[in-house]
Amino acid sequence: MKVIKNLFKVSLLVVLLVAFATAHRSDEEPECEYECGNKFYRYYLDDEPAEYGIKAGHYAQNKTAFIGLSIYAEKFYLFHQLQIDPPGVIAYGASGHSFLLNDTKKIWYLYNNPHHKYEWIDFKNASNSNFTLKIAADSSGYTVVPARIVRPNGLVLVGAAAPITGFMYYADENGMSVSATSGYQILTCKSCKKNETKYPLPKYTFPSPKDADSDPVTGCINNWQPYNNDDAPVKNGISAGEYDCNNTAYIGKARNIGQYYPGRIQIYPQGGIYITSNGLSFFKTITGYYLVNNPNYTYYWVPFDGLKLPDNTVYVRNDVSSWKYGVGRVKLNGHTRIGNVVYPAMTISSDDNTRMVFNDYEVLVCDPWPKYQCAQQWKKINANISVDGFSIDSTSFIGRTTFKCIDDCNYGLGKIQTNSTGVNYLDDLTATAVFDNSSNVEYLVKNPSDTYKWQPSRNGMKVVNALELHKEGHRPFYIGMTRINDNVVVGKVRPGDGLFFIDPITGKQQSTSSYEVLTCTSPDASNGEYEEESDNDWFGSFGCPVRKEWSFTKWRCICRDEFRGVFAASGAKWNEEICSYV
Ligand SMILES: *[C@@H]1O[C@H](CO)[C@@H](O)[C@H](O)[C@H]1NC(C)=O
Ligand SMILES: *[C@@H]1O[C@H](CO)[C@@H](O)[C@H](O)[C@H]1NC(C)=O
Ligand SMILES: *[C@@H]1O[C@H](CO)[C@@H](O)[C@H](O)[C@H]1NC(C)=O
Ligand SMILES: *[C@@H]1O[C@H](CO)[C@@H](O)[C@H](O)[C@H]1NC(C)=O
Ligand SMILES: *[C@@H]1O[C@H](CO)[C@@H](O)[C@H](O)[C@H]1NC(C)=O
Ligand SMILES: *[C@@H]1O[C@H](CO)[C@@H](O)[C@H](O)[C@H]1NC(C)=O
Ligand SMILES: *[C@@H]1O[C@H](CO)[C@@H](O)[C@H](O)[C@H]1NC(C)=O
Ligand SMILES: *[C@@H]1O[C@H](CO)[C@@H](O)[C@H](O)[C@H]1NC(C)=O
Ligand SMILES: *[C@@H]1O[C@H](CO)[C@@H](O)[C@H](O)[C@H]1NC(C)=O
Ligand SMILES: *[C@@H]1O[C@H](CO)[C@@H](O)[C@H](O)[C@H]1NC(C)=O
Repeated sequence: MKVIKNLFKVSLLVVLLVAFATAHRSDEEPECEYECGNKFYRYYLDDEPAEYGIKAGHYAQNKTAFIGLSIYAEKFYLFHQLQIDPPGVIAYGASGHSFLLNDTKKIWYLYNNPHHKYEWIDFKNASNSNFTLKIAADSSGYTVVPARIVRPNGLVLVGAAAPITGFMYYADENGMSVSATSGYQILTCKSCKKNETKYPLPKYTFPSPKDADSDPVTGCINNWQPYNNDDAPVKNGISAGEYDCNNTAYIGKARNIGQYYPGRIQIYPQGGIYITSNGLSFFKTITGYYLVNNPNYTYYWVPFDGLKLPDNTVYVRNDVSSWKYGVGRVKLNGHTRIGNVVYPAMTISSDDNTRMVFNDYEVLVCDPWPKYQCAQQWKKINANISVDGFSIDSTSFIGRTTFKCIDDCNYGLGKIQTNSTGVNYLDDLTATAVFDNSSNVEYLVKNPSDTYKWQPSRNGMKVVNALELHKEGHRPFYIGMTRINDNVVVGKVRPGDGLFFIDPITGKQQSTSSYEVLTCTSPDASNGEYEEESDNDWFGSFGCPVRKEWSFTKWRCICRDEFRGVFAASGAKWNEEICSYV
């Protein structure tokens, strides 16, 4: 009897427990299955997110990462890591570098709703994203969700993932904007309340695509023609140089998930376009275009000067997002690669399909001007120099003289001061400053119908339409300019080297590998000639500057031995940059 009684007690307890468990489950579990109506609060750079935000873990010791929503490149909303110290979001920069964004007009944090159940789940593929917060449409229209990477040391990096592509975008510890296709988690959300209020995205006035994209100077109207994987680009396309011994790299563009990207057309062994998108390279044999050369325009490559993209950069435009990519090129392991330029960087994908970001690259520009080079006119110094001379600054003009003429003449280039009867030039044989007021001195005439431009360049590279002071064989010497303590100085550009000039302070020879070159084009066909761009005349192997050659062991341009063996004056130091003793 006692046993039965006890059994009864136990059963009662079990029944009660089961009943309680059931009741408990029906109170909580089954009801927390609804779609979340998510809400964002503006972030005022205070510590409000610590109380109301969703904690994603620590990004540094004792520093909590929250889920931030912010404006990406004035184009759309994107999830970024939000933090309180220092306050802001770590924005994924379109250029390849991340940065701290702390403009409160552009930042919100995700509200931690007590009626929600949030869970981080490993992202496997697009099908396990049922409960993600589909809030931000990126440029190509697909949705992104909050995502995080948990490092082995327990620290987190928060970013955004696009379930449809499987990519997560985030800023890594080195300040680079990078992506991952695995090893990350996405945030899921279940609501315990039926039919929650759906809040719209925070208000932000995006600039109209027209404003955001209008170019300061409209250059050429570029002609992109459908590419049928044939050899049409060989006849009508624009070359970016050698890809390998069987292929010239032609300029193309192709689509990946709604966006067009600049790419490299390869003809052999199968026609197609290589583009880089999301840091991966894709080979496209359909939906591609090639850039047609217009003989009325001048297409050429300009080294990026680190400050701004040239006004007439060639862009690949996207109608959907109004997003645009500049066409850039770089030589990697001897192969010409074409990448996407978003100021200030260019991205390509490397051989092993990882994203590579360059700050040192060339941009394709197109000048709609007539393609003729200027005929140069030089006059003996006379009172008209201030009328038709090419002024450098308010007190001087570009002048030249010839000296030490034996077989050929040497040319000295420098300043002619107002009222002066001579030119101060650098004698490059003795590396000294010389004043010449002989009858050999002339000044450069500026023709009002021609278009002059100082074009950024470096390392003595060939520049299309540059005014040539003189030539040694095929090697042109240009008129270059740089600034020293706000003083404009002119000098001669030595091919493959750089600009050599007189330092206005010390009066001694100085050189720089980064400078501007005077270019000039004329509308008058009878005035000059157009020289096809060809680096082959005087550039060494694989685009290395003169004096250098490509090293397959070091994977870079190195000084040629013949320049290394040169006898060095005592105290002279070898300069690897210019392969010379200085
Ligand atoms: C983190 O917090 C703990 C406990 O509050 C404290 O002892 C420790 O010094 C903190 N570490 C840093 C780096 O602030
Ligand atoms: C925002 O960031 C800039 C640059 O990092 C910094 O100089 C400024 O103090 C920051 N503003 C606030 C309110 O934190
Ligand atoms: C994605 O997940 C689904 C369901 O778990 C599975 O059937 C499918 O094979 C997965 N796809 C890939 C590419 O892993
Ligand atoms: C997503 O939803 C479908 C249909 O409702 C369901 O069959 C599937 O199990 C869900 N997947 C996850 C990961 O919740
Ligand atoms: C959700 O609620 C709104 C009003 O708040 C109502 O108009 C709508 O019909 C409801 N939808 C569902 C599916 O219950
Ligand atoms: C170039 O083409 C030849 C055959 O025509 C082939 O043997 C060679 O491997 C190719 N070279 C490259 C770099 O693709
Ligand atoms: C080049 O200019 C000429 C003269 O203006 C014009 O007739 C011709 O159509 C132009 N060619 C192209 C490809 O635009
Ligand atoms: C200076 O310019 C005037 C007007 O164009 C011209 O008549 C004169 O011959 C020029 N003088 C010289 C020395 O070229
Ligand atoms: C320089 O030229 C200006 C204007 O042509 C004249 O007024 C001035 O006297 C000149 N100076 C010298 C030192 O010749
Ligand atoms: C040339 O300059 C020197 C001083 O540097 C001066 O003595 C001489 O008179 C000048 N000659 C002419 C033709 O101006």
